[in-house]
Amino acid sequence: EDLPADWAERVRALAEQRDAVILAHNYQVGAIQDIAHHVGDSLALSRIAATAPQQTIVFCGVHFMAETAKILSPDKTVLIPDADAGCSLADSITADQLREWKAANPGAVVVSYVNTTAEVKAETDICCTSSNAVEVVRSIPADTPVLFGPDQFLGAHVRRILGRDNIQVWGGECHVHAGINGGQLTAQATAHPDADLYIHPECGCATSALYLATAGAVPAERVKILSTGEMVDAAKVGRTKQVLVATEIGMIHQLRRAAPGVEFLAVNDRASCKYMKMITPAKLLRSLEQMRDEVVVDPDIAARARGAVERMIGIGM
Ligand code: 13P
Ligand code: SF4
Repeated sequence: EDLPADWAERVRALAEQRDAVILAHNYQVGAIQDIAHHVGDSLALSRIAATAPQQTIVFCGVHFMAETAKILSPDKTVLIPDADAGCSLADSITADQLREWKAANPGAVVVSYVNTTAEVKAETDICCTSSNAVEVVRSIPADTPVLFGPDQFLGAHVRRILGRDNIQVWGGECHVHAGINGGQLTAQATAHPDADLYIHPECGCATSALYLATAGAVPAERVKILSTGEMVDAAKVGRTKQVLVATEIGMIHQLRRAAPGVEFLAVNDRASCKYMKMITPAKLLRSLEQMRDEVVVDPDIAARARGAVERMIGIGM
């Protein structure tokens, strides 16, 4: 890919000309995180997208995130530097599958992770992200059955915290987080006995982390199940010199910026999301030059999905 030496200046100048705000998820490559106006987790970025004064949003993340921004701001132009940046978790449930699941469980409230297509959101009562999933489900009366999808590990985390047995969980997973397993976590925790453990709830190893704490192998207060945004907050107030991080490796860049004196080590340093990494500086520049790829959501689907996303954003404000 051709990348002019002055790409960063050109991106900033074009963003100004186009009245565009650049948002980047914590899993983006370092250069994209550094040029963005805002970096954050999916909930924080949704909130910024909903209130940003700019007419154009350039979403450096994956497609469902840009779609969520478009659902919240239908009158704005939403661009993603590469429309093929998908998500294996969002692909793990279709709107038809969700309709069948609902038909088999009348009366249940549907909670969907934001990592879903607009069509799935349109069939959803309330969305959640990893930072508010517990609060969102807690907002539903305890005697009302819940269908939670598509991530099985996040669903198991919500069930564990709330101790509710009327939450049915879909069997989907993110291939990157599912690949961070208990064996790797145990080996790293043993090799670094003084480190804190930051574990994303989508990880296959989240249960192993709690098991390590219960077994006394790691002090319970060192095991933290956190969304990517919560990891940055924890890093700012943390006291340990070393932290083991179980999530997509792009996260380490933002953590080092937040706490330069701390050593952050990936539990699995091959846990890279190929979709997040499809967004490059060259494609960001092209996106602003050519105003592409524009994200389009069918207006009827967007209208039905909006309620579920807005209910989520309203919780915990
Ligand atoms: P959060 O930023 O909400 O923690 O999401 C993680 C993720 O996998 C997004 O793709
Ligand atoms: Fe989807 Fe997983 Fe990539 Fe996040 S890390 S965008 S959940 S495939």
